[in-house]
Amino acid sequence: MQTLIINIKELLQVRETPIDKVSGSDMAVLPSIKNAFLLIEDDTIAAFGSMETCPKLNPEITIDASGKIVLPSWCDSHTHLVYAGNREQEFVDRINGLSYEEIANRGGGILNSAKRLNDTSEAEIYQQSKKRLEEVIQLGTGAIEIKSGYGLTVEGELKMLRVIKRLAQDYPIAIKSTFLGAHAFPTEYKENHSAYIDIIINEMLPKIAEESLADYIDAFLETGYFSVAETERIMEAGKQYGLRAKIHVNQFTAINGIAACVKHKALSVDHLEIVTKEDIEALKTTETMPVALPSCSFFISIPYTPARQMLNEGLPLALATDFNPGTTPSGNMNFVVATACIKMKMTPEEAINAATINGAYAMGLSATHGSITVGKKANVIITKPLNSYYEIPYAFGSNPVEQVMLNGKLIS
Ligand code: NIG
Ligand code: FE
Repeated sequence: MQTLIINIKELLQVRETPIDKVSGSDMAVLPSIKNAFLLIEDDTIAAFGSMETCPKLNPEITIDASGKIVLPSWCDSHTHLVYAGNREQEFVDRINGLSYEEIANRGGGILNSAKRLNDTSEAEIYQQSKKRLEEVIQLGTGAIEIKSGYGLTVEGELKMLRVIKRLAQDYPIAIKSTFLGAHAFPTEYKENHSAYIDIIINEMLPKIAEESLADYIDAFLETGYFSVAETERIMEAGKQYGLRAKIHVNQFTAINGIAACVKHKALSVDHLEIVTKEDIEALKTTETMPVALPSCSFFISIPYTPARQMLNEGLPLALATDFNPGTTPSGNMNFVVATACIKMKMTPEEAINAATINGAYAMGLSATHGSITVGKKANVIITKPLNSYYEIPYAFGSNPVEQVMLNGKLIS
């Protein structure tokens, strides 16, 4: 089946030659074609170019995109959108002066979500999570990573990962699954970290591998959570099962975690609100993608990832939402792109590169997603009529998305 999108005001992120990511000064360049067409055959991008070169065809569907921008769907490489209930009370507690750390120390935070998760049936978690997934699809996300990490028990972690697997089967969006058993220490293991890590390695991982429930492994490498040495144990164990690491690191403190992640060839290091010169050096000329999560900084009032400094040093950057009940109850990539421009001083070109091709890289999907390239999945956003693509970050809080296409099909 052929679908032809014509009269596109500007077609963004066009890459004739496939690339897996963009770094350094290339981040500032967003290749595009004005007055363009895009031809889709079945679920795949078949051709694109300027309207003058549009072939004479008789497609089943023709979409007139006059005045509209077309770009690859957002690639959100870091979320926790499978969870039970919410944490609205903690939100109000923070308004009233408590910090994220103080709330966590009182048994709130991740352990609060873990209790709710373990008290909720798999069917109910699926129902709650699918609504979030449907919402982010309508907001333009076409590939997403989802983590476990609110179970913290064998059964709880498996339950979450099974929900992720079912979502992947039921929805046309590309989903990668990450095992985050090392998200926090359950209260009973506060004084016995190695016993909990033994459970992760000897009980959780083998079952997850048996049911093929995860693509990646994650840990919260942070003061008061998992130390560098503990995270290294987890990354090593993941490797035995073919799970590459994507690690939460440098959210609140810099404790030389990034160098350890690079040493273990992590696919990504995520958060990076606090970054030292040594961290930046450790990331240079590596295959590890730094991932910034500006909605998290916005919501819990912590520093933003120093994107300018990192880009000026030649590093690549990806942007993701971190959608979760505690630090980022939003899966809106349009807001992430706007916030990256407004608060992190990324240009629109850098932010869109970070939210598409580099996001795809950070979840191992850049061969099929993240750019307008012949042979890639036809996952695109058709915007409302816009003055230019600058309006996507400029009109923050407005929804620029008019239609979304996943695997060549319009989703209504
Ligand atoms: O990425 N920092 C660790 N994990 C999540 C938040 C977890 C929570 O508060 O529920 C994050 O921000
Ligand atoms: Fe996270």
